[in-house]
Amino acid sequence: MLRRLHKDQPDSFAFTPANQAWAEAQITKYPEGRQASAIIPLLWRAQEQEGWLTRPAIEHISDMLGLAYIRGLEVASFYFMFQLQPVGTVAHIQVCGTTSCMICGAEDLIGVCKEKIAAKPHEISQDGKFSWEEVECLGSCSNAPMAQIGKDYYEDLTTARFTEILEELADGKVPTPGPQNGRYASEPLSGITSLKDFDSGKTQYNASVQLATDIGDTVKRIDGTEVPLVAPWLGKAANTSTTPKAKVAKTPAVSKAPASQKKSIAKPKPSEPAAAPADPDLAASGPGKKPRTMSAPRKAGADDLKLIKGIGPKLEALVNSLGFFHYDQISKWTSEEVSWVDQNLAGFKGRVTRDTWVDQARALAAGEETEFSQRAKKDGIYKK
Ligand code: FES
Repeated sequence: MLRRLHKDQPDSFAFTPANQAWAEAQITKYPEGRQASAIIPLLWRAQEQEGWLTRPAIEHISDMLGLAYIRGLEVASFYFMFQLQPVGTVAHIQVCGTTSCMICGAEDLIGVCKEKIAAKPHEISQDGKFSWEEVECLGSCSNAPMAQIGKDYYEDLTTARFTEILEELADGKVPTPGPQNGRYASEPLSGITSLKDFDSGKTQYNASVQLATDIGDTVKRIDGTEVPLVAPWLGKAANTSTTPKAKVAKTPAVSKAPASQKKSIAKPKPSEPAAAPADPDLAASGPGKKPRTMSAPRKAGADDLKLIKGIGPKLEALVNSLGFFHYDQISKWTSEEVSWVDQNLAGFKGRVTRDTWVDQARALAAGEETEFSQRAKKDGIYKK
């Protein structure tokens, strides 16, 4: 099957504030210069939020990671877990068709999908609520046949029970996931034959079903409020705020991109939205104090602000449009002025503080190198 972007795409994508905070916290898990490793969890979160991966979502995440869009698309199109076309509003059903499930009745389950949802995989049902596909083994072979619905496994299915589940979901109910034939987990259907007395700490359902039931996120579109944001590697306790963007991230989200990406990342695509309005006085506002701006760079030309860690081509264009072109401008910002600029970096709020621009600019204005500027020059990333 060809995996490519769907012909109909929305105009834009944005994470919910809580998902944005979650995504930024994930990025900080990775070592300096390796932030692109966060691409799979971020793409997955976007899919959990929207149901499928749109082009604007892939581009948004690529921007967050300092990646060329094609790199994001390569990952999204390689892994079959990413849905590149719209899915049902209630659930996308993934029926395992591999050996164990196949010999236990998967083909009959697929027959139910064809009859109740749509004749072909990835088509959306007439009521818009469901879509389906056949997938490879989902690792629940001892509970065959099974299907993943939303985030959870429904196991030991029969066509009758599977049909009921679809009907319940269509009615807005969420049937309890897990074995559907009375089994607790994957013990023999006739009952356990060993360790019979071991019952310590047993919950009503097996661990994964219990968790799914407790959180209640089986077919829910994830907006980030389901569980608290926990980022212990940042030295912080659980954070339940819905707008902690600047609070959770201590290290730059955008940093060194692999050298192989330097050509494609150098220029923002023509289709990208303008980084910022051309007239900073009309557009910029907020708390803090506005620093002195310039209407154009000095005669010798603008400094390469991309040598400041955390500033990529798009952010540089935005900073320039606000009236800042030189290291010495940035190096003189007071904390009040930093606050103003932080507030006026649409889409990049808080980056000045988070990435310590002023300290870096001070070194660069003095003709010194920072560790990042040295590396950036050596690797040739972000060349003008
Ligand atoms: S064969 Fe279906 S889950 Fe493994």
